[in-house]
Amino acid sequence: MKKIILAYSGGLDTTCVIKWLKDKGFKVICFSANLGSEFSPSDLRKRAYQSGAEKIYIKDLRKEFLYHYVLPALKANACYEGKYLLSTALGRPLIAKHLVEVAKKEKADFVAHGCTGKGNDQVRLEVSVNILDPKLKIIAPLREWEMGSREEEIKYAKKNKLPVTSTKEKPYSIDKNIWGLSIEAGYLEDLSVEPPRNSYILLRPLKEIEDKEVRLEIEFKRGEPVSLNGKILSLVSLVEKLNVMGAKCGVGRSDLIEDRVVGIKSREIYEAPAAWILYTVHKELENLILDRETLFFKQRIALDYAWLIYQGLYFSRLKESLDVLVNKTQESISGIISLKLYKGNIIIMKRRSANSLYKKELATYGDKDKFDRNLAEGFIKLWGMPYGK
Ligand code: ARG
Repeated sequence: MKKIILAYSGGLDTTCVIKWLKDKGFKVICFSANLGSEFSPSDLRKRAYQSGAEKIYIKDLRKEFLYHYVLPALKANACYEGKYLLSTALGRPLIAKHLVEVAKKEKADFVAHGCTGKGNDQVRLEVSVNILDPKLKIIAPLREWEMGSREEEIKYAKKNKLPVTSTKEKPYSIDKNIWGLSIEAGYLEDLSVEPPRNSYILLRPLKEIEDKEVRLEIEFKRGEPVSLNGKILSLVSLVEKLNVMGAKCGVGRSDLIEDRVVGIKSREIYEAPAAWILYTVHKELENLILDRETLFFKQRIALDYAWLIYQGLYFSRLKESLDVLVNKTQESISGIISLKLYKGNIIIMKRRSANSLYKKELATYGDKDKFDRNLAEGFIKLWGMPYGK
């Protein structure tokens, strides 16, 4: 029998995929990457076997995900269309990498995934698999099978006694990892209605949030967050803690009409408290520490960086080259930012860094002013010279 390795999330799509592949004559081996997903390993195992899988590999990849995929994007300030910190997009190349490794170990010629034929994730996974092992054959059941809607999948699952949690009342498609949640489909497709209460997953609507501010102190060293409120933490626990704190204060939800790789506009809601806090703090430190040319150059390449990640070119020469440049700029990004979280806001309070380029004696309007105003006149004349008549 032909062996196939399926990237298995435990959700509705991939659970139906197990059964569908089995009916096509494949021996299905599941691979689940734990990037901080909603299903526990025991849940995943149960669901996979109940649906007909032969075997399941579960790997806890949270650390690898944060250090090798999220951190470079954070250093680059990558943000897609101003609202998406790329949680789902950053996870896909990592899943592809491990999918390929499991296929090698199992000597399988096929891999499969449960991405839709209209989305970005099929592009990210398949482009990555092709780069890492071009000999592997990829099956994408959602592009092939007859089921055209989530309702039909739920019916198929019920008919075949597959374990699913998605019901007709809450038909969102959710992709969750430690860097954020992506929520789409169902009621959210109608742009003329407010997002329903049940589309709030990690967060609550602002009016339900306690009227209380939470103060934090975050330290970065060489562009990487290292401590929270004076306590040194691993990146995994720092992000987990910030997710809990941020969610309590309603921080990190965004609602985006986004441009997909395949050319359509779609609506997605993101909940990413830790990601937004760290992104904001990191940018704040860069503003304090980097000279303006480096800062503005970084702002421009941040757009390219985000686009590369979004469109599935994680394993590309350009992305690798940008990382080298970005890493160089991060050598001085060390310091401490004090901030407060309050009703959906991230408010910067204090900034401290040994590498700060802020010079109070130049900025001040007080009597300690060292700025030589006499230099201004000549500077302005030269500066404007190319534009005068
Ligand atoms: N639109 C996001 C992206 O392309 C998330 C895709 C997955 N979303 C989901 N709800 N399953 O990165």
